[in-house]
Amino acid sequence: MTSRESIYYCQPIFRPPSEANSLLIQLTEGCTYRCDFCVSNLRKEFKIRNVEEVKKDLDIAKKKYGPHVKKLFFLDGNAMVTPTQELVELTKYAKHTFSKLERVGVYAHARDIIKKTDSQLRDLSEAGLKIAYVGFESGYDLLLQAINKHATKEDYIKAAKKLMGVNITLSATFINGLGGSDLEISNHHARESADLVNKICPKDDRKWYIAFLSLMIPPGTVIYERKTKGEFHEMNSIDILKELKNFIKEINFPNKEANCIFRCNHASNYLPIKGILERDKESIISTLNYGLTHSEILRPEYYRGL
Ligand SMILES: C[S@@+](CC[C@H](N)C(=O)[O-])C[C@H]1O[C@@H](n2cnc3c(N)ncnc32)[C@H](O)[C@@H]1O
Ligand code: SF4
Repeated sequence: MTSRESIYYCQPIFRPPSEANSLLIQLTEGCTYRCDFCVSNLRKEFKIRNVEEVKKDLDIAKKKYGPHVKKLFFLDGNAMVTPTQELVELTKYAKHTFSKLERVGVYAHARDIIKKTDSQLRDLSEAGLKIAYVGFESGYDLLLQAINKHATKEDYIKAAKKLMGVNITLSATFINGLGGSDLEISNHHARESADLVNKICPKDDRKWYIAFLSLMIPPGTVIYERKTKGEFHEMNSIDILKELKNFIKEINFPNKEANCIFRCNHASNYLPIKGILERDKESIISTLNYGLTHSEILRPEYYRGL
């Protein structure tokens, strides 16, 4: 076998915006699920890479970037599906390679979190896996079913509690406009999503993250096909802001000291918003009201992206 000198990537790769400065290491390729809106599963045959090959990439990264890497993200769309033993071994190896490593992160489908026992999740946390990015998308079960998410609101509650129980930080994403232009679906989506977030609120003041993206309809996805056939009608920017406002209005945490970092500043969003829930609820609603009455400040369609 010839020896490699560059880190292996299977393009295109996706990572959370907050991992922009992290070392990215390909652990899996593609995704085992087929959510209707997502491009992560397209053009890639699903694969979990060989442990030794991934270790080799970590060694190459050390030569290339030096030993002081602080954050690492294991690609791809659902690296949590990796058997625990391998994920623990690679996380430990990363910690050993980069002595200043503060955290390792992964994308994780809720089902793959639930499948792991508390003791397996604790092993991962103790090895250095400190943040999991989970795509909730909605708390409305009928919508989750309609987009082929293979997860329910109850799954999200279980997954969130399991992560929090072992001190793996939760970063959950929702998608505005996911149900299309139907306002009845939108109301359920907003209310059930807020109810889900209220239910997973921790009792302490640890940091946890909730982000909203706005639906993009990339070619190749099932939702794109449905749109082309006239079966899915996209929600407009104003109704998207109203949907988000309905969500924020319903936030009512049992713990008023909660430290929920709220972000809606992804490239897909029409109006950048950030704050802490529930503390900044009123100012977030004021920002949304401003956007609703000043549509000229909203991000134009051609500047939106994933
Ligand atoms: C690469 S996925 C990984 C999530 C993880 N596999 C899961 O399902 O829990 C990251 C997130 O990007 C968001 N996303 C993906 N495609 C999108 C689209 N077409 N429009 C808006 N957001 C999208 C979803 O919130 C998704 O959960
Ligand atoms: S949203 Fe997550 S689980 Fe669904 S296809 Fe994309 S990467 Fe896979």
